[in-house]
Amino acid sequence: MVEFKNVSKTFKKKKTKVQALKNLTFKIEQGEIVTILGRNGAGKTTLIKCLCNIFIPDEGEIYINDLNTCKNNTNKEIASVFEGARNIYWTLTPSENLEFFYRMKKGKKNPDLIDKYIKIFELEEKKNSIVSSLSRGMQQKTAIACAFIQDCPILVLDEPTLGLDIEFAAKMNKLIIDTAKETGKTIIITTHDMNLVNSSSDRIMILNDGEIIEFDYIDRLANLIETNYLKIKISSENSLNLERIINTSGLQFSIVNYNTYDEFQIEIKDISQMVEVSTLIFSEKIYPNSISVNNTDIENLYIALLNKKI
Ligand SMILES: Nc1ncnc2c1ncn2[C@@H]1O[C@H](COP(=O)(O)OP(=O)(O)OP(=O)(O)O)[C@@H](O)[C@H]1O
Ligand SMILES: [Mg+2]
Repeated sequence: MVEFKNVSKTFKKKKTKVQALKNLTFKIEQGEIVTILGRNGAGKTTLIKCLCNIFIPDEGEIYINDLNTCKNNTNKEIASVFEGARNIYWTLTPSENLEFFYRMKKGKKNPDLIDKYIKIFELEEKKNSIVSSLSRGMQQKTAIACAFIQDCPILVLDEPTLGLDIEFAAKMNKLIIDTAKETGKTIIITTHDMNLVNSSSDRIMILNDGEIIEFDYIDRLANLIETNYLKIKISSENSLNLERIINTSGLQFSIVNYNTYDEFQIEIKDISQMVEVSTLIFSEKIYPNSISVNNTDIENLYIALLNKKI
């Protein structure tokens, strides 16, 4: 379990002061996958650096499995990958890095486990090439594999898909989530990648300007905002017509993808308005391929929650 009790952290530089974390209190249970969201500079990295004992909070206490991180060595409890940092040794190969990180935590050798992680993270072809010669994606995979192999109950990943292409990022998301579920680890992820949030999280924490503005399950967060969305999929030859109708009815809407131009997202107040809008569309002899109410689209939800609180 991870517990923050009234944690604050301020950075002071000459005359300027930045309060990066403001009196944070929360708990994360063993086995939970928690995603921390927030704008650039919201305090996400500072929060997890405090958890990993890289930064010492000015106030408050942090506990990992009931051990106060400032008074105990909690290195064995937590493995981490930080954004843009050299988390692994660039002059060693993926195999050597995996061996180093495993032995650093466990002391003994375990070549079978190294092979297992090389396979899971599809590093076979590059396992004996030095890390500095690998692509950004391969380096990131190696870093995450090194975090997993340490077999700590808590894994912290700061923007694990940063800089990866879409396909690679999706693959990485799946790897992280599958491995996390298989090993029962607590995972704390910071990200700007909404696909990762959608596919993985048990709970979402939204940080803004060093404060937690929400920390809850996605469906419960969805109940906090009043806006629902009616998603309408339509064959693209009818799109112009539909756009005209929505426009003249004064409803707020967006087109999900301008290239395909076949999906509209219309803001509605409640279910009765869904019936109203659907009736209007049918009366104009437009028959969509599908209509659904969606108030848990994570990207919309996140933006709505951020705007609601500020
Ligand atoms: N070592 C440091 N020295 C001084 N100020 C810092 C330091 N680290 C972070 N800060 C400041 O603390 C605030 C929070 O930064 P942090 O890196 O935690 O944000 P973040 O949410 O991780 O942002 P991003 O999404 O850009 O990674 C920012 O105003 C940042 O400038
Ligand atoms: Mg950060």
